[in-house]
Amino acid sequence: MSNQRICTIEQLADYLKGHVSERRYLHSMGVAQTTGKVLDHFGCTDYERTWNGFGAPEFCGLAHDIAREMTDAQLLEYCKENGVTLSEEDIKAPVLAHGTVSAEIAAGLVGDYPKSWYRALCDHTTGNSGMDSLALALFIADYIEPTRRFMTDQRRGFYLGSSSIQQCAYRVLCDMIDHWRSTGFHDASSGSLAMKEDLEKKWGCKY
Ligand SMILES: [Fe+2]
Ligand SMILES: [Fe+2]
Repeated sequence: MSNQRICTIEQLADYLKGHVSERRYLHSMGVAQTTGKVLDHFGCTDYERTWNGFGAPEFCGLAHDIAREMTDAQLLEYCKENGVTLSEEDIKAPVLAHGTVSAEIAAGLVGDYPKSWYRALCDHTTGNSGMDSLALALFIADYIEPTRRFMTDQRRGFYLGSSSIQQCAYRVLCDMIDHWRSTGFHDASSGSLAMKEDLEKKWGCKY
């Protein structure tokens, strides 16, 4: 997509509002705000904070689920038309590709934004190895933001009480993997397993 037409976070919010349900819009606003809070909470400053007037947490929060309400067929069609390569797993469960498609759509809207932000959007769905603090914060925020009905304040406190952002993301990841298994939605994907192993080996994370 080459029609760049979005220059401010307000325009991005308006675009989102016109392309997803009210519920998804509020979720994305919650993720934007919570991503910033998580980064502040763990004192993370080692990420690209601004680009072209956009702040990383707000941009990533608003953009992460732009493609979440596309059907499987629409996601596959978008990837085909735009030359986005999908893994076997993504082809079997196209919903897993919504992070990558959201990242691509965002690039079409604003131009070539930072690679680390792009990666954070791609990896928010299942996780991956080598996630930086921005990607981890987005991943955590997606799970604990205020409109998540399954989340209690006590549980949020448990996650945020972790010793580091890596440990916090590890707790969220393990609970997500359990949740996917118990609901039969899908098994842990290769991205989730790579993230888990990375956090265990590189950061010594334990549950
Ligand atoms: Fe998502
Ligand atoms: Fe989300």
